[in-house]
Amino acid sequence: MTTAQQLSYDVQLTGTARTPAEREQVFADPGFGQHFTDHMISVDWTEGRGWHDARLMPYGPLTLDPATSVFHYAQELFEGMKAYRQTSGSIVCFRPYANATRFNRSAVRMAMPELPEDAFVESLELLVQTDREWVPRAEGQSLYLRPFMIATQPALGVNYPSRTYKYMVIASPAGAYFAGGVKPVSVWLSRDYTRAAPGGTGFAKCGGNYAAAFVAQRQAVENGCDQVVWLDAFEHRYVEEMGGMNLFFVFGDRLLTPALTGTLLGGITRDSLLTLAADLGLTAEEGRISIEEWRAGCESGELTEVFACGTAAVITPVGSVKGVDGGWTVGDGTPGALTMRLREELMGIQYGTRPDPHDWIHKIC
Ligand code: PLP
Ligand code: COI
Repeated sequence: MTTAQQLSYDVQLTGTARTPAEREQVFADPGFGQHFTDHMISVDWTEGRGWHDARLMPYGPLTLDPATSVFHYAQELFEGMKAYRQTSGSIVCFRPYANATRFNRSAVRMAMPELPEDAFVESLELLVQTDREWVPRAEGQSLYLRPFMIATQPALGVNYPSRTYKYMVIASPAGAYFAGGVKPVSVWLSRDYTRAAPGGTGFAKCGGNYAAAFVAQRQAVENGCDQVVWLDAFEHRYVEEMGGMNLFFVFGDRLLTPALTGTLLGGITRDSLLTLAADLGLTAEEGRISIEEWRAGCESGELTEVFACGTAAVITPVGSVKGVDGGWTVGDGTPGALTMRLREELMGIQYGTRPDPHDWIHKIC
C-alpha cells in the first residue's frame, strides 16, 4: 500500500453545466461511455517533484504536443468502477481501494508512478460529489468512473520512460453494457490471436491490451458472436477471460474461474463473487479449464451455467460458444438460476437493498 499524500485541489467549476432537463435526456438512454459529466479531475506528476497541480475543472479537451509519449508508445493505464445511488439516497462506490491497488499494480508494470491509494479514492470522491446530480436514479443505472494515467513527456526516445505523467478521472452515466439487458451473450473462441503471455502485461489494465484486442473482437462479431474469449498463448486451449470480463463455470454447486496466472486481469467483481459464492454455501475454486472440457461439460450436462463478470457488464450469462471447430450451447441457452442469484446478491449490495457483510460499500455522499 502506498502512503497517503494529501493533494490540495484547485477547484474550478464550469459556468455551462447541463440543465436538469439535459441530464434527463441523457438518463433516458445513457448507453455505455457515450455521455460525460460537467467536470473532470487532472493531477500532474513530474520526476523529482511527485504529484502536483491537482485540479477539479470543467470537462473538456486536452491540448498535447504531437510528440507526447503516450501517442507513440501507449504508456497508459486505466481503471473502471461505478458510483451507485442507493435506495437510501446515499451515493456509494464499490471497493474503491481494490481499484486503487490494481491501478498501482498496473503502474509498476508500465514503469509509471504510483498514486497513493487515499489520493486515488479522494479524487473519485471529489468528482462524484461535484457531479452528484449525474448519478442516475433509475434502477440498474450508475455513474461509471474512469480514472486513467498517460505519459505526457514530448519525446520520441525509448531509452527511458517518460519523466512526466497526467492522472485524470472522467465520469459517464451508464445503462446496461450489453444492449438488451440480461440476455445471454454468444462468445467466439479466438485461436488466431492471443491477448497475453507470461511476462507480458495481461494482469495490468493498460490501454495497449485493449488496442491489440479489437481485431479479435471484430472477428467475433463477424462470426455472429457478441464477445471474444481469450485462450492461453501456448496451446490456445485453456480459457483465460473475455474482452472486458472474467469468466465463471458452474458445475452444479461448484464454481470454477480461471486462476490468476499473470496473463489475465484480476477483476474486482471476480474476487467479490468468489467470496459471495462461499457465503451462499457454494464451492468456489480458481483453476484451469480447457475448451474441450467446456464443450464436454455442456454436452454431458455437468457444466450447467457459464457467466461473465465485470464492473461494466456486472454478471452476464454466456448462452452459446462458437469457434473454428463449430459451436455449442450452454445449458438451454437461457440465464442460469445461480448466475441470476449471484447477480441479485451483488447488485443488492451495490444498490443497498442487501446487507454488506464484507464492508465493500464506500459512502461518498
Ligand atoms: N478482464 C478485463 C480484460 C477487463 O477489462 C475487466 C474490466 O475491468 C475485467 C476482466 C473485470 O474486472 P472488474 O471486475 O474489476 O471490472
Ligand atoms: C470495466 O468493466 O470497468 C471495464 O473497464 C471493461 C471495459 C469497458 C474495458
